[in-house]
Amino acid sequence: MPADPFIRWRDLVYSARSERYRPERDLAFWQGKAAGYDHSQPPLPNTAACLREDLRGLGSLLEVGAGTGRLLLPLADAVAQVTALDHSPDMLAQLQAKGPPAHVRAVCGSLEEAEGVVAPHDAVLAAWSLAYQPDLRAALLTLRRLSRRALYLLEDDGVGSPHVQLRRALAGTPKPGRASLLQDALDALAWTCDVRRVTERRRLTFTDIASLLAFARLPLSESESLAALGPFLTEEDGQWTYAWTFDITILRVDQGVRA
Ligand SMILES: C[S@@+](CC[C@H](N)C(=O)[O-])C[C@H]1O[C@@H](n2cnc3c(N)ncnc32)[C@H](O)[C@@H]1O
Repeated sequence: MPADPFIRWRDLVYSARSERYRPERDLAFWQGKAAGYDHSQPPLPNTAACLREDLRGLGSLLEVGAGTGRLLLPLADAVAQVTALDHSPDMLAQLQAKGPPAHVRAVCGSLEEAEGVVAPHDAVLAAWSLAYQPDLRAALLTLRRLSRRALYLLEDDGVGSPHVQLRRALAGTPKPGRASLLQDALDALAWTCDVRRVTERRRLTFTDIASLLAFARLPLSESESLAALGPFLTEEDGQWTYAWTFDITILRVDQGVRA
C-alpha cells in the first residue's frame, strides 16, 4: 500500500465499482436515494451537540455536500448565516422540503466550483462528502480557502452497523477507514488539527425475527445470522431491539483567528 495518503485516497476512490467519482454517476446515485436518505441514516445528536458548542456565536457556516441537511439543520440556530452547498438538486430538494429557517440558504453547486458560487464563511463543514474526490489535496485546499476560521471534516473508520460490517466482511469488501486516512492527509499537509471522537448509538426495533433478518440481509442461515447479531439483540414481550454504538471522527483545522 502506498505511504502517501493522497495516493491511497485516490486509489480508494478509483477502486469504487460504482464509479461515483464521475459526477454524473454520483448525481444519479443521489437521485435514487434522496427521498429515503434521512430514514436510512442514524440520528447524530452527540455529534450535533459537540459541533453546536464549538460553532456558537460564529457569523456564518457553510456545509459542502450538505445533502438533506440532516446534520446542518440541527446546527443552524448556533450561527447567524448558514449555506448548504450540494451538487445534487434531489438532496437539496429534501432539505428545502423541511422548511428551513430564513437564514439558511441552499445553493446547488459542486465543491470543485464552490469558490465561484459561495464566498468564504467563518466555518466550513464537510461531512462524508469527500469520499469520491480523487484529488483530495485539491479538495482540502478549496475547503480551507473557503473557511475564515475553522474547517470541520467528519468521517468514520467504517465501523458502523454490525450487520453491514459482517456483510462486507463476508463479501471481502470491508468499509475503508476514511477518517484515519483524512487525518494522515492533514498531517501530510502539516495542518494542525484537533481530533475528537464522538460515540453515537443506534436502536432499531422489530416486531419479529423474520423482519429483523429481512432487514439485515446476511448471506447466512437464520441460526448463523442470529448468532452473529446476538450480542446486539434483546427481546422483550415479543419485540426485538437491535442496538449498537459507532464512532464519528471530527477533525477541526483552525485558521488561527478565532473570536
Ligand atoms: C453521504 S452524503 C452526506 C450528506 C450530509 N453531509 C450528511 O452528513 O448527512 C454526501 C453528500 O455530498 C454531496 N456531494 C458529493 N460530492 C460532491 C461535490 N463534488 N460537490 C458538492 N456536493 C457533493 C452529495 O450530493 C451528497 O448530498
